[in-house]
Amino acid sequence: MDMSRRNSFISQSVLLLLCFTFKAYTSMASNTISPGQSLSGNQTITSPGGIFELGFFTPGNSQNHYIGIWYKKLQKTVVWVANRNQPVSDPSSSALHLFQNGNLTLLNQSKSAVWSTHDPSLPVFSNSTKAMLLDNGNFVITDAFNSSVIIWQSFDHPTDTWLPGGKLGYSKVTNEKLTLTPWRSPENPAPGIFSLEIEQNGTSFLLLYNGSIRYWTTGPWTGKIFTNVPEIELNHYITNVTYVSNEMGSYVSYDAVNPDVFIRYVLDISGQFKAYKWGKDFPQGNSIWLRPSEHCEVYGFCGASSICNQQQVHLCDCLEGFQPKSPNDWELADHTDGCVRKVPLQCSAGNGGNDTFVVVPDVRFPNNSKTLAAENINECKSACLRNCSCTAFAYDNECLVWTGGLFNVKQLTLDEKVGKVLHLRIAASEAIEVKKESKTLWIVIGVLGGLLAVLLIIAVIAKNECSGEGFEVVEGSLVMFRYRVLRSATKNFSLKLGEGGFGSVFKGTLQNSTPIAVKRLNCPKQADKQFLTEVRTIGKVQHINLVRLRGFCAETSKRFLVYDYMPNGSLESVLFQKSPIVLDWKARYNIAAGTARGLAYLHEECRECIIHCDIKPENILLDAEYAPKIADFGLAKLMSRDFSRIITTMQGTRGYIAPEWISGEAITPKADAFSYGMLLFELISGRRNRDLLGDGLQNYFPTRVANVVTKEEDVITLLDCRLEGNADKEELMRACKAACWCIQDDEKDRPSMGQVVQLLEGVIELGIPPIPQFLDRFSKSLDEAIDYHDYISSASDSRHGYSSNITISGA
Ligand SMILES: *[C@@H]1O[C@H](CO)[C@@H](O)[C@H](O)[C@H]1NC(C)=O
Ligand SMILES: *[C@@H]1O[C@H](CO)[C@@H](O)[C@H](O)[C@H]1NC(C)=O
Ligand SMILES: *[C@@H]1O[C@H](CO)[C@@H](O)[C@H](O)[C@H]1NC(C)=O
Ligand SMILES: *[C@@H]1O[C@H](CO)[C@@H](O)[C@H](O)[C@H]1NC(C)=O
Ligand SMILES: *[C@@H]1O[C@H](CO)[C@@H](O)[C@H](O)[C@H]1NC(C)=O
Ligand SMILES: *[C@@H]1O[C@H](CO)[C@@H](O)[C@H](O)[C@H]1NC(C)=O
Ligand SMILES: *[C@@H]1O[C@H](CO)[C@@H](O)[C@H](O)[C@H]1NC(C)=O
Ligand SMILES: *[C@@H]1O[C@H](CO)[C@@H](O)[C@H](O)[C@H]1NC(C)=O
Ligand SMILES: *[C@@H]1O[C@H](CO)[C@@H](O)[C@H](O)[C@H]1NC(C)=O
Ligand SMILES: *[C@@H]1O[C@H](CO)[C@@H](O)[C@H](O)[C@H]1NC(C)=O
Ligand SMILES: *[C@@H]1O[C@H](CO)[C@@H](O)[C@H](O)[C@H]1NC(C)=O
Repeated sequence: MDMSRRNSFISQSVLLLLCFTFKAYTSMASNTISPGQSLSGNQTITSPGGIFELGFFTPGNSQNHYIGIWYKKLQKTVVWVANRNQPVSDPSSSALHLFQNGNLTLLNQSKSAVWSTHDPSLPVFSNSTKAMLLDNGNFVITDAFNSSVIIWQSFDHPTDTWLPGGKLGYSKVTNEKLTLTPWRSPENPAPGIFSLEIEQNGTSFLLLYNGSIRYWTTGPWTGKIFTNVPEIELNHYITNVTYVSNEMGSYVSYDAVNPDVFIRYVLDISGQFKAYKWGKDFPQGNSIWLRPSEHCEVYGFCGASSICNQQQVHLCDCLEGFQPKSPNDWELADHTDGCVRKVPLQCSAGNGGNDTFVVVPDVRFPNNSKTLAAENINECKSACLRNCSCTAFAYDNECLVWTGGLFNVKQLTLDEKVGKVLHLRIAASEAIEVKKESKTLWIVIGVLGGLLAVLLIIAVIAKNECSGEGFEVVEGSLVMFRYRVLRSATKNFSLKLGEGGFGSVFKGTLQNSTPIAVKRLNCPKQADKQFLTEVRTIGKVQHINLVRLRGFCAETSKRFLVYDYMPNGSLESVLFQKSPIVLDWKARYNIAAGTARGLAYLHEECRECIIHCDIKPENILLDAEYAPKIADFGLAKLMSRDFSRIITTMQGTRGYIAPEWISGEAITPKADAFSYGMLLFELISGRRNRDLLGDGLQNYFPTRVANVVTKEEDVITLLDCRLEGNADKEELMRACKAACWCIQDDEKDRPSMGQVVQLLEGVIELGIPPIPQFLDRFSKSLDEAIDYHDYISSASDSRHGYSSNITISGA
C-alpha cells in the first residue's frame, strides 16, 4: 500500500473525527471590548456564563492565526471565524481593534487592516459602542448605552456552524443570504466549495456544489417540518426548529430545548450537513444527524477524475492514470481539487493519436453524458477517439460519451452492481505503465502471500504442538486458547449452561480461578462465518454493557469462543423462567438503560457502526450486580460509519424483528431499536409479549401499552403484577413511551438508541407516541399476529444467552 493512501487514511480518520485542533490562549477575563481597546496575542474574551471564548487560534499544524469563537469547555471546536481568508502570521503583533465608531478591525503586524466588520459603503451608526460575546455564541457590536441597538453581529455572518438562536435564510434588509460554507480543510478555515443556502423565492434549503449544482434539499417547509426531514418533529424536544417569513426576510432558527445539551449544526468539510451535541454527560460529543448520509452522494466530494468508494476507509481514489492535483489537500481529506492526468493525452485531431482506453467496471456513471449515434461498441469507441475532448465512453445499447472532468463516479457494491463498464481514455504510454505496475504488484503479492501462508502454517503447528504455554495474546487483548486448556477448564465440557442453534455453552474456570463461559460452535464449517463475525466485531469493542470476549480457540475443526462468565445468566432466565428472584423495578430500569447504552455505543460510538441484529432477552446477560451485558454477536453486521443502510438476509428472532426487515428492505441501526422496544415491553410486563396473545388481541401487551400511553391512563396497571405496583411512576412512563417510540412502523420515527438513553435518563422528553399501524393490523387478524410472534425453535432450552441463537433465514 503506498504512502499517500496510508496518509489519506490516517488524515481522514483522525482529522475528520477530531474536528479542528488548535492552540488557544489565555483570557482577558471579560466579555467586552470597549472602543479604543484591542485584543492581541493570547488574550481572549469569554461569554458571561463561560460557555464561549473569542480570540486568536491556530488550526492543526497550520502556521496561520485566525480570530475565532469556540466552546470554552469543548476545546478544539471552533464555531465561527472572522478572517477566514486573511490569516495573520503573528498574533502578538496583530490586534483586533474596536474603533470609536464601532468599526471592529483586525490589524496585522504592519498595522494594515486585513479584516473589518464595516464595509466602507455602509453608514456608521454610533460613536459610542462596545463589542460583546454572548452566551449563545453571538459576538455583537452594540450601542454602549443601549445594548438592544445592534450595529453588527456574528450571527449575521455565519461560517460553517449554525448555533441555536442563529438564523439561516434570506434577509430582506441586506438583500443577502445567510449561508453556511465549510472549511477547506481541518487546517484551513477558508470557505470550501460546498454551501447550504435557501432556495431563491422558496422555503427549501439546498446543499450546493460550487454555488450551482444541487445535491440535497430539505424540501419545502410545511409549517411543521421540511418534507425531506420529517424527523424534525420527533426531535422537537431537542431542537425546536421554527421557520419565519416576514418583512425582515425568510429564515429558520432553532432553540436547544435542554440548556445542558449543546447542539450545533455544521456544514462539514465533506459537504455533509451534520448535527452534533455535547453536554455534561457526554463530554466528547457525538453526531446525532447527517445528510446526505453517504459521502459519495455529495456532488464532487472526490473532485474530478476520481472514484468514490463508500466501502473503503479512504473514500476517494484517483482513476487509473490520474494523480491528486493537490496532494497536500488530498491528504487532509479535502478531495475537491480532484485528480489530473499523469501523462497528457496525445490527441491529434482526426485520429486518436496514441490514446487508448482502460476499463473501469461496476461504477455509477457521471450524469453529464451525451448520447451519440453508434451501432456497436467499436463505433462508439472510434467516435470518442475522433474527438479530442472526449474523455470516456460507455456502450450499453446506446453510446454514451463524456467530455471534460469526470465527476461523481462511484464504485457500486455487490448489491448494486448492474455490470456497467466505463471506458476511460488515457495515453497509450500510461496504459503500458499501468499494465507493468499491476504485473509487478501481482508477483510481489504472490511471493508475499506464499511466504505468509508458510509462516502461518508453521505458526499454527508451533502453537498446537510445541507451545508449552496454555494460551497467548493476539489481536491486542484477545487470547488464543488451546483446546487442551479449554477442555480442562470446563472439566471435559461437563457443566452445560445452555444450548442454541449454533452450539452449546459450558462453564469453566481458568487456572487463576477466573470463571469463564465457553461456547462450542456445532458445525464448524457453517459456523465459521458466525465465528469470524463474532471475533471481529466484539473482539474490537469494549463497553461496560457489552459482554467481554476473552478469546477464542480454532484448532483443526474445533471452534470455541471464550467469554467472561455471567453469574446471573440471561435476562430471559431471570424474567420468564420460574426463577426465585423477582427483579424489582430499579433493577429493571437499570437493565433497560444499560442495554440502551450498550446499543448506543455499538451504533454511534464505535469506529464502524455495528448493528446487533438479534436483541432479545436471551442475549442480555446479567453480571453479579444484575448489570446488563449484551451478548451474542454472531449475526451482527458492520456498517460504514455513515449511517447508510445495509441489505442483508433476514435473520434474528421472531417477535423482535423490525417490520422493514421482514419486508426485505435494507436495514439501519433502527432495526435494533425495534427489537429493543419489544424487549422493553417484556421488562415492564415480566412476560413474553407473545404469551399475552392468548388473552385476546386487545390484550397484546404492546397494543395495551400504546393505548394506555396515548390515552394518558395510569401506567401502573401495565406493570408486572409480581411487583405489586412498586415502581417509580415517572420512570415507568418514560419506559412505556420509549418502548412505543421504538416500535414505530417507519424507522425514521424511531429514536436513535442515544436518544433512548437520554429519554430514560430524563435528559429529554418525547411526545405521545402514535399507535403503530402494525399493531392495528394485528388486532384485526389473529393469524397475522400469531404468525409474527411464532417462534421456530423452542427458546426454553437456551438458558444462557451465550448460545441462544435461534435463527430463521429468508422471509
Ligand atoms: C501570554 O502572553 C504573554 C506575553 O506574550 C506571556 O508572558 C504569557 O506567558 C502568555 N500566557 C500564557 C498562558 O501563555
Ligand atoms: C499586512 O496586510 C497588508 C494588506 O493586506 C499586506 O500588504 C501586508 O503584507 C501585511 N503584512 C504582513 C506583515 O503580513
Ligand atoms: C472600517 O475599517 C476598515 C479598515 O480600517 C475601513 O476600510 C473601512 O472603511 C471602515 N468602515 C467604516 C464605515 O468606517
Ligand atoms: C458622538 O457624536 C456626537 C454627535 O453625533 C458628538 O456630539 C459627540 O461629541 C461624539 N462623542 C464622541 C466621544 O466622539
Ligand atoms: C434601546 O433601543 C431600542 C431599540 O431601538 C428602543 O426600543 C429602546 O427604547 C432603547 N432603550 C433605551 C433605554 O434607550
Ligand atoms: C424571485 O422573485 C422575484 C420577485 O419577487 C423575481 O423577480 C425573481 O425572478 C424570482 N426568482 C426566481 C428564481 O423565481
Ligand atoms: C465553479 O463555478 C465557476 C463559475 O461559476 C467556474 O468558473 C469554476 O470553474 C467552477 N469551479 C469548479 C471547481 O467547478
Ligand atoms: C447531475 O447531478 C447533479 C446533482 O444531483 C444535478 O444537480 C445536475 O443537474 C445533474 N446534471 C445533469 C446533466 O443531469
Ligand atoms: C418551540 O418554539 C415555539 C415558538 O418559539 C414555542 O411556542 C414552543 O413552545 C417551543 N416548543 C418547545 C418544546 O420548546
Ligand atoms: C505514438 O507513440 C510512439 C512512441 O511512444 C511515437 O513514436 C509515435 O509518433 C506516437 N504516435 C502519435 C500519432 O502520436
Ligand atoms: C467534440 O465534442 C464536443 C462536446 O460534445 C463538441 O462540442 C465538439 O463539437 C466535438 N468536436 C468534434 C470535432 O466533433
